[in-house]
Amino acid sequence: MAILKIEDKFSSFLATKFNKLKLKHNSDIIKFLDETDEIQNISNSISKLLSKDYFVVLKNFNLVDDKNLFFHFSSLFGEVYPEIDFTDIKIDCPYTGCVSSYLVWHTDDAILGNLQPKYSTLYIIEEDPLKLPQNGILDIDDLVYYLELNDIDFLEELLTKEFPMLSKGVHYYDSKKEDISISQTLLYEEDNEIKVRFDLHRIKSYYFSKNIKQSIEEKKIINKFLTLADKLKKSVYLEKHDFLILNNRKTLHDRSECSLELNQDGSFNTREIFVGFIVE
Ligand SMILES: [Fe+2]
Repeated sequence: MAILKIEDKFSSFLATKFNKLKLKHNSDIIKFLDETDEIQNISNSISKLLSKDYFVVLKNFNLVDDKNLFFHFSSLFGEVYPEIDFTDIKIDCPYTGCVSSYLVWHTDDAILGNLQPKYSTLYIIEEDPLKLPQNGILDIDDLVYYLELNDIDFLEELLTKEFPMLSKGVHYYDSKKEDISISQTLLYEEDNEIKVRFDLHRIKSYYFSKNIKQSIEEKKIINKFLTLADKLKKSVYLEKHDFLILNNRKTLHDRSECSLELNQDGSFNTREIFVGFIVE
């Protein structure tokens, strides 16, 4: 994990520029991001860090809570899905990103197999009221190294044993919600590297929708995989104005529980984030 903090005066300078850009056309935003030395310094530094660490937190980066600026800044690292996900924590939300409970280890859009997003980006608009949630990250190279030394048979199992998955559309906000069903290994080799794709919800969805019981053998493999992820993980608390980018094919991520604060008028103060996905 790498952390890059923007110095305070520099952060204020950027926030002033971003506030003016909010009202401008996309072409002006793109021109500013592409041609401003300070922005290029930031994106070049992140790109260099990402080549080694797979998970970079840019701190004190005030994007003035603007979704469009988040989209265009994320676009400096590749082609971004057009939909930027705004998520706050709710008490009655069917979407997993909104729940206050623990978010289990996963890669984003694992249902796409090798075409799952290369990078995921996240920006903290508002922090958790009690500053509770830890974002966990597992560098898959750490898992592979551990298994090569301690349990080579399990590494082989993760590279060869296929698990079924089912999803209604790729994303929660997909309008079609067509069934996508695949079977794939949790670890796979590509470009001489071992990568990961995993989504427990979608594995469970397959068995639930087919009304089939998952075998004990499969449950044990997943349980062991999750236990090792917990053992080898690194965690970070994300503050307001933190921007993170992670390599979605070389890491797993999870998130511990969030809190909610209730106002007198019945509304809630909760953690609010933007999330983006970068194809390649
Ligand atoms: Fe995620």
